[in-house]
Amino acid sequence: MKSRFTVEGLAGQKKLRGEIRIAGAKNSALKALAASALFEDEVQFENLPEIEDVARMRELLAAAKSSPVLVKEIAERFRASIVLTGPLLARYGTVTFPYPGGCVLGERPIDLFLQGFRALGATVEEHDELFHIKGSLRGARVVFPFVSVTATETLMLAAVLAQGQTVLENAAMEPEIPALAGYLNACGAGISGAGTPTITIEGTNGRLLRADGKTFSVIPDRIETGSFVLLAALLGDGVTVTHCEPAHVAALLTLLRRAGVKMEVGTDFIKVKGGGPYQSVSVRTHEYPGFPTDLQAPMAVFLTQCAGEGTILETIFDGRFRYVDDLVRMGANITVMNPHKIWIKGPTPLSCKELESPDLRAGLAYLIAAAVAEGASTVDNAYLIDRGYERIEERLSKLGLNIKREEV
Ligand code: EPU
Repeated sequence: MKSRFTVEGLAGQKKLRGEIRIAGAKNSALKALAASALFEDEVQFENLPEIEDVARMRELLAAAKSSPVLVKEIAERFRASIVLTGPLLARYGTVTFPYPGGCVLGERPIDLFLQGFRALGATVEEHDELFHIKGSLRGARVVFPFVSVTATETLMLAAVLAQGQTVLENAAMEPEIPALAGYLNACGAGISGAGTPTITIEGTNGRLLRADGKTFSVIPDRIETGSFVLLAALLGDGVTVTHCEPAHVAALLTLLRRAGVKMEVGTDFIKVKGGGPYQSVSVRTHEYPGFPTDLQAPMAVFLTQCAGEGTILETIFDGRFRYVDDLVRMGANITVMNPHKIWIKGPTPLSCKELESPDLRAGLAYLIAAAVAEGASTVDNAYLIDRGYERIEERLSKLGLNIKREEV
C-alpha cells in the first residue's frame, strides 16, 4: 500500500512556532552501518535515524553476513548500498553487487569505484548485470579525477584492512567522512586527513577493527537542518531548529543572511527570527563546504518567495531540476536555462496542487511548497520522503503545520 501526505497551506502567512529537533544524518548513518562489516565485534549506534534507507542497509548487511553479495532487489533501492562493497571486499576478498539504485538525478555512473578497486589490486568482472570484484587488497595511490562522496567513502573503507598505505587524492570533504574516520580510528584503523582532499590510510593487513563497546554517534543531518531553516524563514513566527551543527550549513546561512533572514546561531541551534521581505540571491551548488546540491530544491522554493531575480547553478548532477514543472504549475516563475541552470523571479503566490516528487530531497521541497501555498496539496509516494526523513508529518505538525499521512 502506498501513502501520501496532505498539507493544508498557510498561504504565505508566518504561523509556525516552536522547536524542531534534527535527527541523525542519513548519509552518516548509512556509511557507518556499512563500515560495521569491518568489525570483529558488534558496533552500537546512537542517534540512528528511523528512516527507510537505514532499514534497507540493515537488511543488506544481514544478508551479506552469510555471503558477500548485495541482494539485487534491496541494493537497487538506494545509492548508498554501493558503500558496503568496500568493507565486504576488504574483509572477504570478494564482493558481488548489482548496479546501485537511488534517486534519479541524471547519470550516476560507478566508474570511480571500479577504477579504485582495480588500483587496490582487485579484478573486476561484469556478467548477468552483476559486478564481481575479487582480490586481496594492497595499498595504492588513487587520484580521483573529480570529487565523489560515496567513492571516497567506499575506497577509504576498502583500504582500512588492506596491506600497506593507501592515499586518496581529490577526496570529498563532507563532514560525514571525518566523523566516520574518527570512529574507525578509535577502533583500530589508521586514517589521517579525512575532511581534507588527501586521505591517507595505513592498512591493518587484515586485522579486523574492534568496537569494544564504543558507540558510533550519528552526526546531525545537515540537509534536514537546512531544509527546516528554509521552512522557518518562509513560514516561521519564532522557530528554533535544535540539535544541529550550524557550521555544517554555513554556506546556506551566508546566503540566507544576504537575502535578509534574521537568525540567532548558537553552538547547536539556529533560531530563525524571520524578517523580510526577502531579496533574491544566486546560488551555486558545490562540494562541501559549498552549498549542498541536496538543498537545491528547497532553496528554489525559498527563492520563489523572494523579491527579484535569482539563479541556481547546479554543478554536481545533470538531472536535478525535474521538480521545476510542478513549482511552475503551483504558480512559480521559473525558467530552465539549461540542464544546469534555472532562473527564478519572485515573489509569486503558490496555489495547491496534486504533487508527486521526483526524488527524496525534492520531496521535502514539495512539502515546503505545499505549506507556503494556498489550499490543500497532496504529495504522493510518501516512501520517497520516508527514505530520508524520520516521521516528518509528526515533526512538522508540532510546529503547527496541518499535515496528514493517508493510505491510498
Ligand atoms: N560520479 C561519476 N562516477 C562515479 C561516481 C560519481 O561520474 O563513479 C559523478 C556523479 O554522477 C555526480 C558526481 O560524480 O555527477 C558527484 O556525485 P557523488 O558521487 O559525490 O554523489 P554520490 O556519492 O552518489 C552523495 C549523496 C547524495 C549527494 C551527493 C553529492 C549518499 C548516499 N549520497 O551521492 O545524496 O547528493 O553525494 O553531495 O551519500 C541524498 O541523500 O538524497 C543524495 C542524493
